[in-house]
Amino acid sequence: MLETQMLRHTLEEMDRMGELLLCDREVNPEYELGAVLKYFRNKKPILFNRIKGSSVKVAGGLYGDREIIYSLLNMNNENRLFKFMDAIANPEPYKVVAKGPIKENIIRNNIDLSRILPVPKFQGKDSSKFITAGALVIKDPETGKYFTSIRRFQVNGRNELSALISSPKLTNDFLELESMRKPLEVAIILGYDAPFLMASQISSATYGVDKYEVDSALRGEPLELVPCESVDLLVPAYSEIVLEGRMVPGKRELEGPFGELMGYYGAQAPHPIIEINTIMHRNNPIFQAAFPCREEHLSNGLIREVELYNYLKNQVDVVDVNVTEGGGYRFNAFASINKGKEGEGKSAIIAALGSNKDLKQVVIVDKDVNIFDLEDIEWAITTRAQASQDLVIIPGALGSSLEPSHGLRGVTDKVGIDATKPLGERGANFERAIIPGFEDIDINRYFPNIK
Ligand SMILES: Cc1cc2nc3c(=O)[nH]c(=O)nc-3n(C[C@H](O)[C@H](O)[C@H](O)COP(=O)(O)O)c2cc1C
Repeated sequence: MLETQMLRHTLEEMDRMGELLLCDREVNPEYELGAVLKYFRNKKPILFNRIKGSSVKVAGGLYGDREIIYSLLNMNNENRLFKFMDAIANPEPYKVVAKGPIKENIIRNNIDLSRILPVPKFQGKDSSKFITAGALVIKDPETGKYFTSIRRFQVNGRNELSALISSPKLTNDFLELESMRKPLEVAIILGYDAPFLMASQISSATYGVDKYEVDSALRGEPLELVPCESVDLLVPAYSEIVLEGRMVPGKRELEGPFGELMGYYGAQAPHPIIEINTIMHRNNPIFQAAFPCREEHLSNGLIREVELYNYLKNQVDVVDVNVTEGGGYRFNAFASINKGKEGEGKSAIIAALGSNKDLKQVVIVDKDVNIFDLEDIEWAITTRAQASQDLVIIPGALGSSLEPSHGLRGVTDKVGIDATKPLGERGANFERAIIPGFEDIDINRYFPNIK
């Protein structure tokens, strides 16, 4: 049967699309690999064929480009919000299969993560090597629903990882089991594809849906899963590497510092640990890496856009939203609206800033502004906003602790700019000057050699 799921198939797709770079020069997983990924701002998928000290290949920079993600999911900028909404609202069943390539190799003894896998060290003051693209899988003990999420994992030594978890669902599940002195069974997946990644970015606390089912809806066929060897969990049959283990009750290890998404080092703090007791991997496995930077959070931002759109839709006729790369795909957003009444620009600011605690800055523009073009946004702010009337500032709201500008960690000011033009007679001054027929110009008819 032709393989259609997970990373190996995706790499073939990327190659067919002309997007995949192959690196045949030997690369050191300490700093050098991250430096090459960062050179392309994590927007260029790269397969590193020769890794110093390891026979395992590494793929990185896979999902940091909107257009690549859209192509892999068979969607475009116009329909992406609705396709994601549809998959969240109408999850589809997954399929359990007896065998899969992930079972080709099973390691049960003498697990030493650093020896088996080329785990990179990324930045100068990072506390250790980090698995940064691992998808954590847990199962709700009561409902049996599966929850996946990308987390960073610090390699503490041989078979031990520290996990950074800031999620209410995962934290509560773990703390509840911990109070009964029981471990939480987990699996960490490496070598997944775009539907799997996107499903993992849906908030469990908000939607409570089984993310394997959302994945199946997004990919348009059932996600194929096999049972793990040592924990009661299902994992993708075509993934590259699966680490099976337990989050141990009553133990914490210091995690960090680590250079986080906004380019600053996050502080060291005690976090739960995971003991890995079994590793499954395909023949010639490919380790999946992600430079810990803003671009890597695109998948998270694409789901945040769905939430922002829905919040705005309650208040105004929203046209489109952009949760921006510069703002780490969580702190800043631009939204265009079809303004029907005066005041809707401000209402849109209220809706947007209330949509998510992390959202810190928002600019509201009219539908004739391209919210994916920073210059167009600057133009709208310059020509359609007056600071004394169009700036909304909310001091001291609860925000994210993932950027360092606030005094009290996590407490942040929020700001909105209403850069919509006035309606009625005054609005006439804001008509954009256009050249009739400009859109239809075929420049090659004038300059045949221009590409
Ligand atoms: C590249 C990448 C790295 C991430 N790293 C972490 C992390 O280290 N810790 C964390 O709590 N969330 C991290 N996230 C965000 C979670 O994966 C995301 O919020 C997920 O939807 C949470 O799922 P949950 O609601 O089931 O907890 C990361 C997301 C991406 C895309």
